[in-house]
Amino acid sequence: MEQIKEGVKKVFLETFGCQMNENDSERILGFLKDIRYIRTNEPSSADLIILNTCSIRDKAEQKVYSALGRFRELKEGRPGLIVGIAGCVAQQEGQKLLKRAPYLDLVFGPHNIHRLPDLIGEISEKRARLVAVEQSASIDENEYGLVSASGEKAFVSIMRGCDNFCAYCIVPYTRGREVSRESGDIIDEVARLAEGGVKELTLLGQNVNSYGAGSDVSFPELLRLVARVDGIRRVRFITSHPKDISEELIYLFAEELKLARHMHLPVQSGSDRVLKEMGRGYTASEYAAKVKLLKRLYPEMAVTTDIIVGFPGETEDEFEETMALLRALRFENVFSFMYSPRPLTRAASFEGQLPLEVRSERLQRLQEAQREISLERNLELVGRRVEVIVEGTSKSDESEFSGRTSCNRIVNFPFDGAAGPGDFIEVAVTEAYPNSLRGEVPQQGK
Ligand code: 5AD
Ligand code: SF4
Repeated sequence: MEQIKEGVKKVFLETFGCQMNENDSERILGFLKDIRYIRTNEPSSADLIILNTCSIRDKAEQKVYSALGRFRELKEGRPGLIVGIAGCVAQQEGQKLLKRAPYLDLVFGPHNIHRLPDLIGEISEKRARLVAVEQSASIDENEYGLVSASGEKAFVSIMRGCDNFCAYCIVPYTRGREVSRESGDIIDEVARLAEGGVKELTLLGQNVNSYGAGSDVSFPELLRLVARVDGIRRVRFITSHPKDISEELIYLFAEELKLARHMHLPVQSGSDRVLKEMGRGYTASEYAAKVKLLKRLYPEMAVTTDIIVGFPGETEDEFEETMALLRALRFENVFSFMYSPRPLTRAASFEGQLPLEVRSERLQRLQEAQREISLERNLELVGRRVEVIVEGTSKSDESEFSGRTSCNRIVNFPFDGAAGPGDFIEVAVTEAYPNSLRGEVPQQGK
């Protein structure tokens, strides 16, 4: 049996949703480590269970409720167990969750992660049931910077919240107003991660292009500073807003070769009327011009996007405009979603909400078309040599390695030489699938 040091407790943490949530989960673990919690993959042996939740679409929210239901029995069998909900559903529902789930002890939102040690202390002492969903207008640096490096890649939040209020989106409500971290604090965190062995860094924000609004460091300047940190070999960033992406950023790729050749640029729709209703601040042709400029300047750049189908009032012709944009721009990859009405958002009360069948049929058509395009895009790489950073073993075959290219493609390849996570290897691409590539390591001298 595993020997657990006296006083050490175990936490089972499950994360739903986006990379921002993954990053928050790392921070949750960081704060819990301070009060002697270690992670377990076994809910039945945990002293604390936390679900870090997502509410971007209704389906994501429903997943949380069914996961929560699974822990009810555990709690009944072990009254000392603490069960908590974090993340966007926690922020959105607050107190209501305690009513809905009587076995729940704690509800805390994304602005309250740093309070976790105190909250857990209070629950243990008084068996209190607590809700912590206050939002603050500024970032206290103690809330960040706790994440420890455990591999070759790491995510660093550079800002939180969003001020865009796109008509469909709940994020400005769950994550609050946009605030940027100080550039000095970010650089310190990056330097610490690099010392711990991190080589590939992803900077995170809802709208990274508006980083530093009102301060003296712009996003392109921040990227320059981060890329200069010793040990950092690749820098990624998500998510860029098409209306805010500057020429300075576009031209920075020419100068800063550590910037990964990938831009995630959510378009959401190809119809100008729908884009206007969504409040996105650009037209389809303005968007297309930016993508074309990127591709003209950097032919190896992968551009990926997000699309919502079936927004209220979207006609068949308007949906076809989205399909036409997809075919014209030939994205390397598309994340597509059925529109889902969210509480508090403007679009939830728009007229012309479309039936599920219409939304689901459009989503299917779009995904079929994109699968073909993604495959064609990947086929363009067959016969070429690409540099990958090894991430681990392949998902489908433990005897193979899996690496990621600068343009964000996954390449699986057999290799019997000495290599491990974090190594950079050149691979010759031999086969392409819609979501990955296969390759081999060229023998020396060839
Ligand atoms: N319904 C469907 N998709 C949504 N997204 C955001 N809000 C909704 C919603 N209400 C999608 C957008 C966004 C991505 C993260 O999730 O495409 O870019
Ligand atoms: Fe949501 Fe729009 Fe902000 Fe993105 S930019 S998080 S879609 S409100």
